[in-house]
Amino acid sequence: MAEMSERMQELLIKVPAAVLSTASLDGKPNSVPIGSKKIIDNETVLFSDQFLNKTLANMKANPQVAVTFWEGYEGYQLKGTVTIETSGQRFEETAAWIEDFGNQIGFPLKSKGAVILNIEEIYAVAPGPGAGKKLA
Ligand SMILES: Cc1cc2nc3c(=O)[nH]c(=O)nc-3n(C[C@H](O)[C@H](O)[C@H](O)COP(=O)(O)O)c2cc1C
Repeated sequence: MAEMSERMQELLIKVPAAVLSTASLDGKPNSVPIGSKKIIDNETVLFSDQFLNKTLANMKANPQVAVTFWEGYEGYQLKGTVTIETSGQRFEETAAWIEDFGNQIGFPLKSKGAVILNIEEIYAVAPGPGAGKKLA
């Protein structure tokens, strides 16, 4: 497991969306923006699945993902393994959170699942001498 710094956690929550990259078993890549994200702890992030389609199929076949997020020229890439929860406390809490959020923005939203990322590696993506460096 790899631990996010306070700053990484702050930035992940602050950015409007992070890019979730998956790959099918035959290696076809797929990257999508994800706005619904929560920090569970410094090694674990939760995303809400409302619309995931190819992404969901990929994660079921191959649970290895990368999540990239940035602001200005500061950015990070998390790599790890996901599990998808479609029942239980985290699923229910995520469903309630997304329903509330949908009500706030006047656009009905339904969470189909909680995607739990266990972070195994963290890399810098900012341009410059540290680009691509493993941070944790
Ligand atoms: C700014 C933005 C934020 C999004 N946030 C989410 C999200 O939090 N959860 C979700 O399931 N889909 C979200 N989507 C939709 C997905 O990015 C994407 O459309 C969906 O996964 C279908 O693509 P796929 O077939 O490649 O998986 C968002 C899209 C945009 C443009």
